[in-house]
Amino acid sequence: MTRPAAAEERFEDLQVVAWVDDRLRILDQTALPDEERYLDLTSTDEVVDAIRRLAVRGAPAIGGAGAYGMVVALDEAAPGSVADARRVLADAAARIGSARPTAVNLPWAVRRVRAAAEEGTSVDDIRRRALAEADAIATEDRAACAAIGRHGAAELADRHRILTHCNAGRLATLGIGTALGVVYAKAAAGHPVEVYAPETRPLLQGARLTAWELRRSGIPVTVLPDSAAAMLLGSGRVEAVVVGADRIAANGDVANKVGTFAHAVAAARAGVPFYVAAPLSTFDPDTPDGDHIEIEQRHPDEIRRCADRATAPAGVDVWNPAFDVTPHELVTGIITPVGVIRGDYSPAIAHLFERSATMEGETP
Ligand code: MRU
Repeated sequence: MTRPAAAEERFEDLQVVAWVDDRLRILDQTALPDEERYLDLTSTDEVVDAIRRLAVRGAPAIGGAGAYGMVVALDEAAPGSVADARRVLADAAARIGSARPTAVNLPWAVRRVRAAAEEGTSVDDIRRRALAEADAIATEDRAACAAIGRHGAAELADRHRILTHCNAGRLATLGIGTALGVVYAKAAAGHPVEVYAPETRPLLQGARLTAWELRRSGIPVTVLPDSAAAMLLGSGRVEAVVVGADRIAANGDVANKVGTFAHAVAAARAGVPFYVAAPLSTFDPDTPDGDHIEIEQRHPDEIRRCADRATAPAGVDVWNPAFDVTPHELVTGIITPVGVIRGDYSPAIAHLFERSATMEGETP
């Protein structure tokens, strides 16, 4: 059994994405688990670069970094007029919003900051509005994670051994996480809970990040090779799969870290429920289905090399998609801040977006 109060204390100091001393600070996730190192990002180029090389990663966290990145862009450019400031916002929104293509949270967040800031009547007012909107996005994400945790803990009250994939925890959001938010909420409710974390080749977000943050919280975690997950699911040891998402299409198809689809197929065969946990900022009602989600292709050297040595012949052809799409038929339920949706996803998702835009974090 875990001690949730102590677990919270151990995270008070963690600044995954934070506005500190009037600048954007991120925890450099490329250095984990060896080192807890922070980076101050002071230009649009640095923000784009940090997002591209996964120094900050996870859909809600890159949304938050992108939102604060709009303020960084204004500070860097120091525009002399309202028209200049609007040009800076337009340029930054285009560059930061497209730094990675799959997670919809990123363009959503920069669009939101741009729209709020453009209402400003002076350069100072534009900057003030941009920062206030970025803060609002951060606050909403924290509330959304907490609400996802509550709904997920209720849904999975009797399921204690959870398999996740990649990292959808504190390191991937501005709050307690989505999939791992459910785990933390279960622990806080006094449920026994333990996590299986596939290592998540090639960048090892499961082994490096999920294992790091769960151990820091005192939650039992076991790392396994991605290729062992099907056997584990078939063994009866896992009671539920809970993963995050980068984009959920209007029909409920889910883009998440590559490997997620394989877990969903194996879970279906083993009769293990497969859940996705996500805030509303991860839904994209304008994308009809998974076939229309752009999947990021990453550099071949992520596969050809590891820890400074060759893991494949130099120059060999590589296919390195960062994400895959799990068809909605394989998803038992989607845990959102306003409850768990299941079954016929199209009307359920349409209904989510008919509600007020301020519902993030609410409990129904
Ligand atoms: O490439 P990454 O590390 O940014 O991929 C992250 C994931 O796939 C997460 O599962 C997803 O963003 C959800 S984070 C709450």
